[in-house]
Amino acid sequence: MSKISAAITAVGGYVPDFILSNKVLEGMVDTNDEWITSRTGIKERRILKNENEGTSYMAIKAAEDLIAKKNINPKEIELVIVATTTPDIPVASTAAYTATKIGAVNAFSYDLQAACSSFLYALSTAASFIESKRYKKILVIGADKMSSIIDYTDRATCIIFGDGAGAVLLEPNQEGLGLQDEYLRSDGVGREFLKIDAGGSILPASHKTIDEGKHFVHQEGKTVFKYAVSKMSDACSKILERNNLTGEDVDWLVPHQANLRIIDAASNRMKLPEEKVLKNIHRYGNTTSATLPLLLFDFEKNLKKGDNLIFAAFGGGFTWGSIYLKWAYNSN
Ligand code: UT7
Repeated sequence: MSKISAAITAVGGYVPDFILSNKVLEGMVDTNDEWITSRTGIKERRILKNENEGTSYMAIKAAEDLIAKKNINPKEIELVIVATTTPDIPVASTAAYTATKIGAVNAFSYDLQAACSSFLYALSTAASFIESKRYKKILVIGADKMSSIIDYTDRATCIIFGDGAGAVLLEPNQEGLGLQDEYLRSDGVGREFLKIDAGGSILPASHKTIDEGKHFVHQEGKTVFKYAVSKMSDACSKILERNNLTGEDVDWLVPHQANLRIIDAASNRMKLPEEKVLKNIHRYGNTTSATLPLLLFDFEKNLKKGDNLIFAAFGGGFTWGSIYLKWAYNSN
């Protein structure tokens, strides 16, 4: 029997209706459309406004979209991984709630947190379960409600992030399609540059932490930018080299959508023409764990069976990496 690989066999997605445009942000903080567009490539982002709804709301919608499109019985799903940095509530798993709500009653489930690399790590984890023949149907959802941890008086961060969710189904493949190779890394040196100071075990929530605004994302943008360019490009180069690929063999670069300049730097280093680079940052901003599956969701029709996809991400921690995957189907 030929080797089993883990292939993406369906995609779903969801973004909230509410659009927060650069123009609206101009009235909220000292910024302007020209600065945001030229420094980040972002024009607008989606915000989940529904009261009492968290990340699971979007994760469930993305999963339901996938289940309806693929016409699968959710009872056949064996594992649900929710990649997220903004779980609904501490302690109780967002994935457990999501799995139950979508009717995946025979699955076990867990959250996976690696900031903006969460989805990439989750893809790797899920693929191992498939390759080992342990499970045959795994749902990986990347979802984040970044608006729940952003200070909308801080122009350094509020212009960047947005809310959204994307989902993929992983199944065994015997045609040599699916995940081919991965290069994943982390480095705790990054902890100081992109984080939320309070609310964790080091500095639990108190009146003082709230008064001092320590429950919001804090980012030293310039430092993170430099690391992101270098590490993401490096990971992509390693993956290409290891698999004897050049830019010409790559059909699509699927890069984390944090900043258009980071995407351009990585794709230039791979000598990729612009038309091979998937981008939707102008519409959604940085949705953290959701950027990669939302790209697949938006561009699913462009992807053809056998296409070579190179995923790349970089995020807080630091965490980063690249995955080489052969696309497994043509969508109608
Ligand atoms: O996804 C997880 C990983 N995260 C990332 O990859 C994000 C990496 N970092 C970035 O994308 C960029 O660093 C930012 C978009 C966050 C910032 O862009 P930058 O080109 O690095 O700007 P900067 O922070 O160096 O600021 C340049 C200037 C400063 O003014 P002065 O000191 O030169 O007078 C800032 O105060 O731009 C100012 N500035 C702004 N101006 C208008 C900073 N934010 C804004 C703003 N509007 N929103």
